[in-house]
Amino acid sequence: MATTPRHYRRVEDLSADGLVAVLDLADELKAARAAGGRDDLAGRTVAMVFEKPSTRTRVSFQVAVTELGGSPLALSSAELQLGRGETIADTAAVLSRYVHALVVRTFGQDRIDELAKNATIPVVNALTDLEHPCQALADLQTVREQLGGFAGRTLTYVGDGNNVAHSLLLAGAMVGLSVRIAHPDGFAPDAGIVERAKELAAASGAQVVLTTDPVAGVSGADAVYTDVWASMGQEDQAEQRLAVFEPFRVTPELFAHAAEDAVFLHCLPAHRGEEVSAEVIDGPRSVVWDQAENRMHTQKALLVELLR
Ligand code: CP
Ligand code: NVA
Repeated sequence: MATTPRHYRRVEDLSADGLVAVLDLADELKAARAAGGRDDLAGRTVAMVFEKPSTRTRVSFQVAVTELGGSPLALSSAELQLGRGETIADTAAVLSRYVHALVVRTFGQDRIDELAKNATIPVVNALTDLEHPCQALADLQTVREQLGGFAGRTLTYVGDGNNVAHSLLLAGAMVGLSVRIAHPDGFAPDAGIVERAKELAAASGAQVVLTTDPVAGVSGADAVYTDVWASMGQEDQAEQRLAVFEPFRVTPELFAHAAEDAVFLHCLPAHRGEEVSAEVIDGPRSVVWDQAENRMHTQKALLVELLR
């Protein structure tokens, strides 16, 4: 077993080239699935711990590992001694002796970092309050499929400057996709992440723009993306956020400001009538089901790369 594991705790654990290599492999694995499959993870066990609910991430990782010949092991934190006070460090050390990789969804980014510090196997962030780096891989695969590339293209994320926005911003900036974030006052993405995304964008030739004007943000965009207004762990703020976020709903009227052939993305789960109108998410420009499917292909590719 590797003693210096490669982790995917955050988007920047991959280099720009590494990220594109994962996307390329994901395309290959997507085609291979239709042609009859592969066994790249034969003999490997991948444990998954979810401290928040999940449909897509849980199922797509489970199927990804199974289809590549490996064994997924889904654990809920309530079933682990972690829930009774065993330390993250001890949990990481012990799981490292049994399994080959650990996929974790949790609250603070510090919990993933602490696991990774004490694990001798790759640790993958399956969503924290700060980042959702696996989502960003599927987002980019979907954008590339739909738009044919990243250079000269603009994706506008409309809504809360949250974990999904953070990873998308960093990943887009790395591969040369310009990212605009249209957010309500007081709900901008983390300033440090924006700063870093601007540095990455300067190197890739992309642009990073923040605005509090949804129409200006969406104008001419090649892709429009949104996410829930209150993330997991913020349920108590959901009610008060409704009024503030109302102008940021992706309605047919707002979407009409995007490029004529623009696509609509959403990480899901969606709340129709809140962050997006049913006419948009269920309309002809929506690619959300491809995007959800691509979670599986990109996570296969990620695990293959990390366990190489
Ligand atoms: N997009 C996403 O991560 O969905 P789940 O919460 O269902 O895993
Ligand atoms: N921002 C959302 C994403 C869910 C996949 C959340 O953290 O709840």
